[in-house]
Amino acid sequence: MTVIAKVHAREVLDSRGRPTVEVEMLDDAGHCASAMVPSGASTGRFEALELRDGDLARYDGAGVLRAVDNVNRVIGPALMGLDPADQFSIDDRLLALDPTDRKTQLGGNALLGASLAALRLGAAARHVWLYEHIFATYEPTTAAGSERAAAQTIDRPRMPLPMINMISGGLHAGGNLDFQDVLVQPVGAPDLATGLEWTVRIYRRLGKLLAEAGYEGTLVGDEGGFGPRLKSNREAIEFVVRAIAAAGLRPGLDVTLALDVAATHFYSDGMYRLRATSGGALTSDELVDEIERLISEYPITSVEDALAEEDWSGWQMLTARLGNKVQLVGDDLFTTNPARIRWGIETGAANAVLVKVNQIGTVSESLRALRLAHSAGYRRIVSARSGETEDSTLADLAVGVGAEQIKIGSIARSERLAKYNRLLKIAERLEGVKTA
Ligand code: PGA
Ligand code: ZN
Repeated sequence: MTVIAKVHAREVLDSRGRPTVEVEMLDDAGHCASAMVPSGASTGRFEALELRDGDLARYDGAGVLRAVDNVNRVIGPALMGLDPADQFSIDDRLLALDPTDRKTQLGGNALLGASLAALRLGAAARHVWLYEHIFATYEPTTAAGSERAAAQTIDRPRMPLPMINMISGGLHAGGNLDFQDVLVQPVGAPDLATGLEWTVRIYRRLGKLLAEAGYEGTLVGDEGGFGPRLKSNREAIEFVVRAIAAAGLRPGLDVTLALDVAATHFYSDGMYRLRATSGGALTSDELVDEIERLISEYPITSVEDALAEEDWSGWQMLTARLGNKVQLVGDDLFTTNPARIRWGIETGAANAVLVKVNQIGTVSESLRALRLAHSAGYRRIVSARSGETEDSTLADLAVGVGAEQIKIGSIARSERLAKYNRLLKIAERLEGVKTA
């Protein structure tokens, strides 16, 4: 066993040019690792606090020097001497330093930077691939504890099915569409590499179709998806279906569609306020009617945040009506929070969870959320944020916990490709190298 000997944090920039936290960690045997914290735009109200300086003279107040300082002065010293391979003990120490619900004392970004760096250092110290270390940490048989033992197990790490952004709307593309993303899933692809090749082909055909229709098909949103000023959500869906066909693939068979409605962002005073071309102000029932129409007309197999994060009764109605037809994903609804996921399971809300480590703030809590979801038969989608970095931990996390799916954004921009490329590297090991 090695022990943590040095921790150092600094401010770096994410894919939107906004400051974020990087943490470097060394053990006494000379292993070193570092991690960078992602950042959302369509953040749920129940997420861990992203501590920002508020000093308007720097980055319009978005600096993270206070979070960095919290790592360097408080968190780092508290982790000295701990075994980096023992993620649960490290995170317990972090949670003891900031026991607040939303990590408001030290900042979710400060805690997560340390938690992720420790995870990576643990893999380095054990001389195993990161996903293998995550698997060993996640796998109940390797750890005592009734909660862990009670959860369903996965027998080995496995490749997730990607969910890839094609058209961005909502807060990710200047509010051009109500719905936040139209995505594709290469469900018929025999392996990851083929699925990615299909996806790139669809993406290119889509760019061409948008340009031919007079849209600025080359402008992209925060996650690398196209951000055209379309007339309606429906038009966005239709473009993606046409792009799949133009790529020589069969919509619904080779490739299915997924939506991220991100409904919290157009919900106010109990009503869903869509633009007129998409239906105007709707009740929960009426919005579910519209979603039901969309899934009956188009090959949509997954709908995320179809309703708002506080609309629990709406979510029960939605799940009762559509839960056996389509995957219903809770993102803002659950915010990777085991307590909220438990409530969803008990009340019959959603049938899948989106897991974003920075929503909750530590690796262990994220693993707990994943286990809980898995044990209740909810599907798990490990997800990036709209603000990302070259850090590719996410890919290993999805593989290590055997998540059914992964959501990284589009198939453009290096902060996205860092994760896809990492998946390709892992796939060589898990799927075996394909030769022509
Ligand atoms: P966010 O968006 O990172 O801006 O929250 C991603 C998503 O909603 O899935
Ligand atoms: Zn979402």
